[in-house]
Parts: sequence; C-alpha cells; structure tokens
Amino acid sequence: MKYLIANWKQNKGLFDISSWLDLYFDNIEGIDISKVKVIICPPFTLINELVVNLSQRDHLFIEIGVQNISKYPSGPHTGEVGFEQLPEQVKWVIIGHSERRIDGEDNESINEKIRLSLENSKIPIVCFSEIDQYNEVSDEFSSQVFFAIEPLSAISTMGVGKPETIDNIKKVYDNVLSENFIYGGSVDDKDITNYINEPYIKGFLVGGASLDPIKFAEITRKIAQ
Ligand code: PGA
Repeated sequence: MKYLIANWKQNKGLFDISSWLDLYFDNIEGIDISKVKVIICPPFTLINELVVNLSQRDHLFIEIGVQNISKYPSGPHTGEVGFEQLPEQVKWVIIGHSERRIDGEDNESINEKIRLSLENSKIPIVCFSEIDQYNEVSDEFSSQVFFAIEPLSAISTMGVGKPETIDNIKKVYDNVLSENFIYGGSVDDKDITNYINEPYIKGFLVGGASLDPIKFAEITRKIAQ
C-alpha cells in the first residue's frame, strides 16, 4: 500500500470540488485502488463540501486530511480551527509544513499538535526539511506518525521547486527511524516514475500537481501499477 496525499494549500473554492472529483474519477478508471490510499487535504473552508461530495460517490478509498490544526482544543484563539470543529471524516493532519515553519511554527507547537492529533485519533503527517527538525519530534510519537521529507529546494513554494534526487532522499531515510516515510517536493505525473520503485518511500505529498485532477489521476495510476 502506498499513500498519495494531495496538499491543495490555499487554492480552490466551493465550486471546484465537484468538477475536480468528476475529472479525477473519470481518469482513474480501471486502476487497482487497493494499492494506493489517496488523502485529499483541502483548505478548511472546503472540508464539508468534500465530505458531502465523496459520500455521494462510490469511492470510499479517498480519505480527508487538513493542512494544519490549532494547538489548542478550543477557546479564545482568533483564526484557529481545532479538532472539535472538524467532521469525523477527517482522518489525517499535516503538521509542520515548511510554509508554516517560515511563518513561525516552532517545534514546541508541532509536538503539541502531534499529541492532540493522536489523542483525537487522527494520523499526523509531520513535515520536515532538515534532519534537525526531524530530531525535534518527540520520540514518543515516532512510531505513530508519518514523516514527510520536503527539502526546501524541492517544494514548489514561489514556483521554483526542483525534485530531490533519489540519493539525497535515501540519505535522509537512513537517519529516520520510521517506516512511514513520505517524500514531498515537486512530484508530478512525469517525474513520479523516478521514485515509485524505491521501496522505502511509502508515499508522496503532492502540492502543485494535485490541483490538476488529470495529473493527479496519472500519478495515482503510476503508483498503483
Ligand atoms: P509541491 O508541494 O508538490 O508543489 O512542491 C509539496 C508540498 O509542499 O506539500
């Protein structure tokens, strides 16, 4: 089983969900979906629409995640969204994405968010760009989370990402004590073929290419082969 995570970042609106799903499902016809778990992480504002749209279709292999979570259970925290406010269909949580770290997300809050996620039976996808950031994740969580290596030079923030080489990804993996090892950074429908045969890469976190349902379907198809 491989994991394919779509990180839509701050993109898409209410009226995009249905057409994205229509095109995606049309383009994954015939693939063996038992080989890949697809997780879509939309902005908070689209979660309910995605829940409703997926429930009307016959494709239960798609799960839903969020791109961040409040480090507080609830209360006077302007602009935050916490677990109590999410529908039960949300199963995954991206934590510590580099685009949040540059906005001040620190290791303490990342560990707190992981703890809250596990307490709420959600699976954290903990992003790190350097091994120091991985080392800051408390050992008590290591066996319960997915780790996503996202080298800063690889993610397409500002549109300049360049996919990481297999050698460099393997070097990082050799320092990570987790079998739940995900790669993220400019993966698209073409260069995915460079990575799918690496057995230690258990999945992919895809930003830009996940916005296009046809490209994302092609990535799904290649992973499922
Ligand atoms: P990208 O984003 O695929 O656009 O590089 C990946 C990520 O940052 O999650």
